[in-house]
Amino acid sequence: MSVDGDKIRRGQEKIAWVRAHMPLLASLEAELRPQRPLAGRRIALCIHLEAKTARLALALKALGAEIAVASSNPLSTKDDVAAALCNEVATHARCGASAAEYAAFLGEVLAIRPHLVLDDGGDLCALLHGRAGDWGTDLIGACEETTTGLVRLRQLAREGRLRFPVVAVNDARMKYLFDNRHGTGQSVWDAIMRATNLLVAGKRVLVVGYGWCGRGIAQRAHGLGANVVVAEVDPVRAAEAVMEGFMVAPVREAIADADFVVTATGCRDVVAWEDLMHAKDEAILANAGHFDVEIDVRSLRARADGRRVRDQVEEFTLPTGRRVYLLAEGRLVNLVAGDGHPAEIMDLSFAVQLLSLLWLAREGKGLAPGVYPVPPEVDGAVARRFLANRGMRIDSLSAGQREYLGL
Ligand code: NAI
Repeated sequence: MSVDGDKIRRGQEKIAWVRAHMPLLASLEAELRPQRPLAGRRIALCIHLEAKTARLALALKALGAEIAVASSNPLSTKDDVAAALCNEVATHARCGASAAEYAAFLGEVLAIRPHLVLDDGGDLCALLHGRAGDWGTDLIGACEETTTGLVRLRQLAREGRLRFPVVAVNDARMKYLFDNRHGTGQSVWDAIMRATNLLVAGKRVLVVGYGWCGRGIAQRAHGLGANVVVAEVDPVRAAEAVMEGFMVAPVREAIADADFVVTATGCRDVVAWEDLMHAKDEAILANAGHFDVEIDVRSLRARADGRRVRDQVEEFTLPTGRRVYLLAEGRLVNLVAGDGHPAEIMDLSFAVQLLSLLWLAREGKGLAPGVYPVPPEVDGAVARRFLANRGMRIDSLSAGQREYLGL
């Protein structure tokens, strides 16, 4: 088999594996396929291009849509999956794409003049707002997958500049409670352990940001036997971390003893150059937030001696004489140095995505520009499917109980 043939086969195997472990998406596809509810719709996807997203793209195609896919991060693309997917839908992504290539790929997916956009981090929506062109003429609206994308889009909405309706998929309970917390929690440690092959038990872990992702990362680190310290700017979340049994301290203090530093804030420079001057020798630095701005990688590259010491591991010798190890170039460690969230987690997120896209396709034309919540019935429908798939049943309120609760 040729190298390309081998790559395609590996990509197909990866997609087949997750297909078998994403039962909600399979059941939705089987039920909706005969009606082809997305027939005639063009959908542009900008999302980390790996096996689970390929599976989503194929499900949307099976419901009748024309699909174009780009990655939402230049380093998270799995090239074998992209090679397998491009036989089925228009695919524009490559691991290690330069900034110019990355921008060109986004332009390619918008060139289909989408009716619907599925964005992860807001880059595609930013492009739709930024440049003149007729990309947006058929556009009904967009679904946004992650916290950082919604931060950007809500900012546009506040400034009165948002041009179309956006569904806040990230904020659905069946998304953030599972994907951000349990998905990030497991996959971040999987990636850190794969990249470093080092022990976590008995080590000191500093988690910066105790939001949905940070909670999961801290919880799993604790489960692996680490001593966890949390850094936060929100006093309520810091108090929550204390009640969960974690220490709380500012980054500048806690970094002095940390063997692992993991950022998950959606903010910039949370581990600044000045903080790194206090870092422990051989500290491992990893980021789980959407953009590579959380650890001051730029200063590290400009002001410290660096060399690659292992796949996805760079060693930097600081002016203090101490060394730090940066994983995955400071980009989302779980997607760059690992396979991203577990398939069963993305099954939940993508069931929410699919139902939100269908809702937007139906209702979007009548909506003013704005950020809309996922319709509440979507959370319930996905949760019920999840429980049924696991063979679990729940109670329901009696008429008397409903009356008592005033429902
Ligand atoms: P969140 O809004 O629930 O939590 C962020 C937390 O960081 C907040 O508690 C906030 O107070 C804190 N924070 C902000 N600036 C800080 C600073 N300078 N120092 C210390 N704490 C600070 O957000 P969520 O959902 O946890 O997402 C965090 C980031 O992770 C976002 O960029 C999101 O897009 C990304 N994300 C990454 C995933 C992955 O697979 N790696 C999955 C889902 C989200």
